[in-house]
Amino acid sequence: MRILAIETSCDETACAVVDVTGRTVPRFTVLSNIISSQVKLHAPYGGVVPTLASREHLKNIPHVFQKALRDARTTMDEIDAIAVTCAPGLVIALLIGVSFARGLAYASGKKIIPVHHIAAHIYSNWLSHEKIAFPLLNIVVSGGHTELVLMKRIGTYALLGETRDDAAGEAFDKVAKMLGLGYPGGPIISKLARGGDASRYMLPRPMLSSGDHDFSFSGLKTAVIHCVKKHPEIKKDKTARRNFCASFEQAVADVITEKTIRAAREYRVKTIALSGGVSANKRLREQLANTIAARLNAVAFITPDAGFSTDNAAMIAVAGYFNRTHATTWKNIDASAHAPLA
Ligand code: KG4
Ligand code: ZN
Repeated sequence: MRILAIETSCDETACAVVDVTGRTVPRFTVLSNIISSQVKLHAPYGGVVPTLASREHLKNIPHVFQKALRDARTTMDEIDAIAVTCAPGLVIALLIGVSFARGLAYASGKKIIPVHHIAAHIYSNWLSHEKIAFPLLNIVVSGGHTELVLMKRIGTYALLGETRDDAAGEAFDKVAKMLGLGYPGGPIISKLARGGDASRYMLPRPMLSSGDHDFSFSGLKTAVIHCVKKHPEIKKDKTARRNFCASFEQAVADVITEKTIRAAREYRVKTIALSGGVSANKRLREQLANTIAARLNAVAFITPDAGFSTDNAAMIAVAGYFNRTHATTWKNIDASAHAPLA
């Protein structure tokens, strides 16, 4: 089966062509994976400006689509289905991808498969790992979401916990903005944190005694404001900034790791999967991998290759494949800002 996938939920215009082979265990071959990033456009505003994002998707999507077909050396005739992100995200951004997919489906007579963006982050793991054992505990950490999702099998999702305020990626972005480091904050902070002393600045580990599986990062953000006020050297001195970035990363990684270990024990999972943009963070990946190996017996830890962590359309194709029974005609596809995963 050959899937053309489209993603426009936030600030990346992305199209991919993915082949699916294998009878019992599906194997995904990414023939093309084109991403047109809008980071430079939004950077002066310190965050995504929805109308600018929408216009940029509109401008870029025909070129991204053509390049995806060209790089995959394929044509619409050889495509079996079109997968498109329908929710959640910025509606005016989602609508560009959805409208484009509808037009393609209308003209070609192909079916469209609606895709949930969070499900797609979860399924991005299948791009890098073939056999994944269930029950599977997913930690989805992105710019808009921080969720612990339990899957007993493909297509079933139980939301164990989520953030009560800011998402983990949002915390990175806001802290970077506070320090005047630029946007998006995650990759900038993680680059600056390299080699830093993570124990230099004491930051809280919020929600560790909440008794549930929820997260909260707004308190950490407030603690950062106080810490930066108390230690003005963080804004002035390179070494202090490096140590501070490392301390902040460590606080986020500690909370996510501890909460994940507790949920994994409670639900006796066989695999833990980390996905979403923040999963590109090396400290978080290593901390989780080491802690799982040390504290959980026979639990596998997986995460997508770094190129599939942040938004891309290859993951939309994989999610589309697993959701293929919901394929429909162009008339039945719409976009929405919020939609439950289940
Ligand atoms: O999944 P994603 O591309 O988009 C959403 O669905 O939101 O995630 C983007 C988020 C941003 O907040 C960005 O700062 C964060 O992922 N991010 C990182 C890293 N790379 C991207 N956060 C921490 N460390 C990174 N290396
Ligand atoms: Zn995302």
